[in-house]
Parts: sequence; structure tokens; C-alpha cells
Amino acid sequence: MSQKTALVTGGSSGIGAACAAMLAARGFKVYGASRNPKSGAGYLPLTMDVADDQSVEQAIAQILKEAGSIDALVNNAGCGVAGAVEDTSMQEAAHQMEVNFMGAFRVARLVLPGMRQRRSGVIVNVSSLGGLFGLPFQSFYSASKFAMEGWTESLRYEVKPYGIRVVLVEPGDVSTGFTGSRVQARAADPTSAYAAAFAKCMAIVEKEEKKGVPPEAIARVICRIVEGAAKGPRYTCGGASQRLSAVLKRILPGGLFESIIGSFYGLG
Ligand SMILES: NC(=O)c1ccc[n+]([C@@H]2O[C@H](COP(=O)([O-])OP(=O)(O)OC[C@H]3O[C@@H](n4cnc5c(N)ncnc54)[C@H](OP(=O)(O)O)[C@@H]3O)[C@@H](O)[C@H]2O)c1
Repeated sequence: MSQKTALVTGGSSGIGAACAAMLAARGFKVYGASRNPKSGAGYLPLTMDVADDQSVEQAIAQILKEAGSIDALVNNAGCGVAGAVEDTSMQEAAHQMEVNFMGAFRVARLVLPGMRQRRSGVIVNVSSLGGLFGLPFQSFYSASKFAMEGWTESLRYEVKPYGIRVVLVEPGDVSTGFTGSRVQARAADPTSAYAAAFAKCMAIVEKEEKKGVPPEAIARVICRIVEGAAKGPRYTCGGASQRLSAVLKRILPGGLFESIIGSFYGLG
């Protein structure tokens, strides 16, 4: 059987790097793509800015020329902007959506035609618990992941007849470089009306992320999906209390759930 090819966006760090290494160890030819790609264990670095049409077009063309097809796509590249809604500029909000949501679309729309013609393929979209409920002071991050959730649900109907699976992965806190790379909205400074609540909330967010599960825990789930062992439409993963929060969101009255999350982030 010929070797299958996987493209993992955001492959230079964290969940993407762990996933690229794991898929390579399982026999895939793997491209780990990002703006500043790094050579990793057994996978090929590829330059790609998911927010840039031309960059994505060039990178996909390179893979297709070298490998012939893309059998698995892991839409994992992402970044975070934190700050109160009022403190976030149009540009900061648009960039968040452009990378986390439009970036996944930008890559998928070039990968889908080949999968459709071969009548097989799998796309894993890395969302977040923040795609299931709004995270305080990370509203545009949550919005980008909510967008990814709805987009994925719709896409699944369209491509199922062509043998293509599209699956959501919703991690809770994972210990990666994400915490350090998160930027604050420029106006989220000490003069903001929200400064005290923002600082209190984000200190808890960062503490929780640092003690989150290792990226390999999420990579294992992604590999099971890619290999067809996990067949569901979405997988919430991470610590037990965080997986529980996804269940609580579904079953508790909205006001009660909001109070629990608010007190957890010191916003009682
Ligand atoms: N860490 C968590 O607690 C957590 C929880 C839930 C969901 N997630 C999601 O998991 C995914 C991976 O995050 P991570 O935790 O592994 O963070 P990370 O270690 O910061 O990795 C982010 C990756 O995305 C790449 N990236 C950022 N902007 C990009 C762009 N414009 N084009 C291409 N690549 C870009 C980065 O590489 P370059 O800088 O080289 O471009 C890096 O490889 C994200 O979608 C994130 O939202 C993370």
C-alpha cells in the first residue's frame, strides 16, 4: 500500500508538533506547516501562513507536486487575542478570525477537491472548549472556535457522500507555547475600565493552561481519528473536570452554567 500523506498546520509547536511526530511514527508522510516551520521527528517542515491566500496556495501546490495527494488534513494552526470586547480593535478581532477560522477554510478548500476525486480523506479541525462556551475576556477566540464548530457541522453533510470525514477536536487546557504566544488587545491596559477583572481572570486562565495536559494527549486523539479508530463527529479532550464542563454546558440551565464558569474565573 502506498504511503499516505498528512498535512498538519501549526506543526512547529505544541499540539501540532506532537501530532505531526505521532503521525510520522505511524507511517504517514507528514508536512508540519507554519509561518516559521521547524524540522521535527520524522516530518517535513513547510512554510505556510494560514492567513495568507498565496502562502497557502504555494504550500499546497508543493505538497501535491511532491507527494501527489493529501489524505489527512489537521487544521490546528491557531493563536489567541485576549481583552475585553470594548478594548479590542476591529483589526485585532479580524486577525483572530482570519487565522483560527478562515485559515482552516483557506486550507480545506484547496485540499477538498483531491479528497472528493479520490472519494476518501479526513479533516480534523482543532477547536476548543472555547468553541462550546464563551470564555471571558477571550471573546474573539471563542467566536473563532464557535465559527469552526458550525462550519464543520455543515461541511460534514456536504462531503460525507464522497467518503470524507470531518471531525472536531475540542481540547481543554493543554500545556503548550499557546499561553506565551497569546497577545493582549492593545487597549487592554491598566487604563481600561475592565483592567482589574481582566487581570484576575487571565491569571487564572494562564495558571490552568500551564498545568494542562501535555500536547501528546491531544495528538493521540487526533491520530485515532485520522486512522479511523475514532468515528464520532467531535471529541472533547483534556482533564476530567474540563470534559465535565462540556457535559454541564449541555445539561444545566444556561444561567447556572454561566455562574459556575464566572466564579471559576474570579468573576463571581
Ligand atoms: N493550548 C491550549 O490550552 C489549547 C486549548 C484548546 C485549543 N487549542 C488549540 O490548539 C491549536 C494549537 O495550539 P497549541 O496549544 O499547540 O499552541 P502553540 O504551541 O502556540 O502552537 C500554535 C501553532 O500555530 C502556528 N501558527 C500560528 N499562527 C499561524 C499562522 N498565521 N499560520 C500558520 N501557522 C500559525 C504556530 O507556528 P508559527 O508561529 O511558526 O506560525 C504554532 O505552530 C490552536 O488552534 C489552539 O486554539 C489550544
